[in-house]
Amino acid sequence: MVLLNSKPPIVIAHRGAAGEAPENTPAAFKLALEQGCDAFELDVHLSNDGQIVVIHDYAVDRTTDGHGDVSLLTVDELQRLDAGKWFHPSYQGEHIPTLEEVFDLTPPHIEINIEIKGGIGSGIEERLAELLRQKNRTGSVVVSSFHFNSLAALNRIEPALRIGLLYELWLKDHALLPKAAGIEAFSLHPSFRRLEAGQAEAAAAQGLAVYPWTVNAEADMTAMIEAGVSGIITDYPGRLRNLLERRAA
Ligand code: G3P
Ligand code: MG
Repeated sequence: MVLLNSKPPIVIAHRGAAGEAPENTPAAFKLALEQGCDAFELDVHLSNDGQIVVIHDYAVDRTTDGHGDVSLLTVDELQRLDAGKWFHPSYQGEHIPTLEEVFDLTPPHIEINIEIKGGIGSGIEERLAELLRQKNRTGSVVVSSFHFNSLAALNRIEPALRIGLLYELWLKDHALLPKAAGIEAFSLHPSFRRLEAGQAEAAAAQGLAVYPWTVNAEADMTAMIEAGVSGIITDYPGRLRNLLERRAA
């Protein structure tokens, strides 16, 4: 169904423009900006010395030339690793950014969806709330996680923060809408394959944004637009921007 009065979804660059540049690196975020994204999605962990760093996996092995767990390495050790050449030799020299560094390269009108992966139980929620206050970013981020307890902790620490519920399961099986309301969530982040007819509208009726992930094929992007979602998380922000422009023409 096409919702005639609905706004087009915002373009959320997954790990930056991760389809065309090494994920979660400054290069990927800069490319996403060039391609006209509205927001970034990125993943965070806590380093051994308490810095919030932007990387997806719990270990550095897949996306750098190093080895070992993020939580066992200091920020200096992490930032010495090459985070680009695994993707393509032309990206040699890219590094794992701190979250603060990504804030500094992000224009104020670009939203950031911070997904908490690691550091839960090590104080990442307190550290994140403190950094957001320092960087005056509390109002322009959405913090999501598969770890509901981490989101609930953040909600207690900083009630004004926008919280996104991230899940891979069928919504109806897990009664996530009431749960979302319980922590005053801002948004639902379902795997796009799990979004059922009418769910975006049901969420909107509760005042919740819906940001499905990770939508890379044009046909799937079209289906999400027509379902009335509020944002689409994609590895190809340029492809989605082009599609939205063609539909608006
Ligand atoms: O935040 C949406 C999506 O990034 C969740 O899965 O594994 O890509 O972080 P993953
Ligand atoms: Mg993620």
